[in-house]
Amino acid sequence: MPAVHASAPGKAILFGEHAVVYHRPAIAVPIEDVQARVYVLANPLGNVGQIQLEAPAIHLDAELAALEADHPLRLTLDLLKDAMRLEHLPAMKLRIVSSIPVAAGLGSGAAVTVAMLRAVSIFLGRLLPDSSVCALAYEVEKKYHGNPSGIDNTVITYRKPVYFLRGEPIQILRVTQPFTLLIADSGIPSSTAKAVSEVRLGRQHNPQQYEALFDHIGELVEKARQFIENGPADNLGALMTHNHQLLRELGVSHPKLDQMVEVALKAGALGAKLSGSGQGGNIIALVRPENAQAVQQALRECGAVNLIITRVTGKP
Ligand code: PMV
Repeated sequence: MPAVHASAPGKAILFGEHAVVYHRPAIAVPIEDVQARVYVLANPLGNVGQIQLEAPAIHLDAELAALEADHPLRLTLDLLKDAMRLEHLPAMKLRIVSSIPVAAGLGSGAAVTVAMLRAVSIFLGRLLPDSSVCALAYEVEKKYHGNPSGIDNTVITYRKPVYFLRGEPIQILRVTQPFTLLIADSGIPSSTAKAVSEVRLGRQHNPQQYEALFDHIGELVEKARQFIENGPADNLGALMTHNHQLLRELGVSHPKLDQMVEVALKAGALGAKLSGSGQGGNIIALVRPENAQAVQQALRECGAVNLIITRVTGKP
C-alpha cells in the first residue's frame, strides 16, 4: 500500500498574542512557506497497535508504546483513537518531517499534531472534519501550554487568516490588499508555557495595569482588522509597532527582539513586532516588496536566522 500523507502550515500571530488568552481578539495567518508533513505506511508484519515513529528532526526513532504516556505524539494518536471509537490503531509506520523552526513561535507543535491527525485519519479511511481536527489539536495544546487560547490550532487547521476570540466560532478574514511580511528568528528559544505563566503572575500582582494593556491590545486588533479587510494594508505597520510596545510593557519582549524591531524599522520596514509568546522566537515586519531584501539583510547582519519573506493573500 502506498504511503498516505498530510501537511499543515506554520503560523504567525499578527496582533493580539497574550491578550487573546484573556478573551481579547487576535489575528493570525498561516505561513505556507514552512510545513509539517506526516507520512503513514501500513506495516503488514506488525501486530495490531504496533506503531513505529520516525521524526529525524528531533532524533526520534521509536515505537509509540515506548514513549511516555503524555508525549505529544502519543497523546495525539490516543485522542484520535478515542475520537474514532477504535479499540486499537492498526500496525503502521509514521514518518514526521517539518521545516517549521521549533520553539520559535511559528506553531511547529500544533502543525505536527494537525498533520498527524489528518494523515492517520486518511489512512484509516475516515478523514476528520476540520472542526474535529481543531478540537483534538486543542486538547494536545492544553497539555503542553497550560492555558492556550486555541489560536494556534485554529489558524493551522483552517489555513486562512483568522480573527480569533477565545471560545467563539472562527472568523475568516478577507484580505483586500495582499501584504508582505518578513519573519525573522532571534535564535533564542521561546517557551510558550513560561511566557504565558509569567503574564498570568504579572496580572495577579497588577490586575488593573494588565487588564488595561489587554484592552489596549484588543483595540489595536479591531483597527488592524479594518485595514486587513478594507485597506490600506500599509497602515498595519504602525499598529504592529504599537503592539510590540504593549507587549514590552507586558514583559514578554527580550532585548534582542527589541533590537531586531529597531533594525527592521531603520531599514525601512513599515512596522515590526515580536510574534507569538515572545521572550525569544520571532519578530515579524511589514515590508514593501521592493524593500524586503534590504530589511532581510539588515536583520541577518544583526544575527537573525531562518528568515522568511512571505505574502499574505488570504488565498490558498
Ligand atoms: O505558540 P506561540 O509561541 O506562537 O504563542 C501563542 C500565543 C499566546 O497568545 C502567547 C498563547 C496563546 O495560547 O494564545
